[in-house]
Amino acid sequence: MGFKDTLAEKTKLPIDILPSSYHILGNILLLKLPNKKAMREKGKIGLAILKMFPYIKTVCMQKGVSGEFRKPKVEIIAGLKKTEITHHELGCKFKLDVSKIMWSKGNHAERQHMIHVAKPHEIVVDMFAGIGYWCIPIARHTKVREIFAIEKNPVSFKYLQENIRQNYISNIIPILGDCRNVKDLPKADRIIMGYFPNTIKFLPAALKISKKGTIIHYHDISSDISKLKKAISKYKNLKIKEVREVKEYSPSKKHYVLDLQVLNTCE
Ligand SMILES: C[S@@+](CC[C@H](N)C(=O)[O-])C[C@H]1O[C@@H](n2cnc3c(N)ncnc32)[C@H](O)[C@@H]1O
Repeated sequence: MGFKDTLAEKTKLPIDILPSSYHILGNILLLKLPNKKAMREKGKIGLAILKMFPYIKTVCMQKGVSGEFRKPKVEIIAGLKKTEITHHELGCKFKLDVSKIMWSKGNHAERQHMIHVAKPHEIVVDMFAGIGYWCIPIARHTKVREIFAIEKNPVSFKYLQENIRQNYISNIIPILGDCRNVKDLPKADRIIMGYFPNTIKFLPAALKISKKGTIIHYHDISSDISKLKKAISKYKNLKIKEVREVKEYSPSKKHYVLDLQVLNTCE
């Protein structure tokens, strides 16, 4: 029996009002309630879930993310009032507070992909490092020389520092600040721009730290990939090497990554 059927059986609620998917981080289960009827029954749904998953200690309802720090809106609907967990993925530990910091399960394949493309001795700049989503797996699994990991949100930055420590990583240099204002960065072999929307406004900052051959992993969302390609085509010193669809972002928009190669120096 699937999640939704079991939940319907345990709650005695109509199956069509119940959520069909969920996401587990540490011992917290996060889910979206699909309609007002389900929201009215959130307490009952949460308690049933605690019984279905004995290792789950807290059930949270996700209500979206907002702002430049992508802060999640989360409500505890059952269990312990504890939202800080350690999530294990790709052989790494990620500590975060799910009520303050987002984690995108849909980015998993791209996080994994980055491990396979980063090459020995590279200098990498992670312009939107968050808690270390991209840079920690790269540092753990590859032989890059150094990763400069920039994060503007002090809450995420604290977790970034802690995750560097708890994964015993010595070649990530965490930097608190806006990636457009960081001084004295070296020219990078690889730049990760894991942020959206309107990533284009950060591209000049990426180009300042680029050299011939730099690869920029440029994330953005759009209803149409050709719009993103057109915006990039205005930069004559950039070549689109590859495009990947990361996930459905909303009913009308998808999250893409464009791998851009810098053809010549930009300054
Ligand atoms: C949403 S996260 C990326 C999510 C992540 N890729 C994942 O796998 O779940 C983007 C990060 O960029 C940070 N950020 C936003 N604007 C920034 C800026 N101007 N400079 C540096 N960091 C910034 C946010 O605080 C956030 O931690």
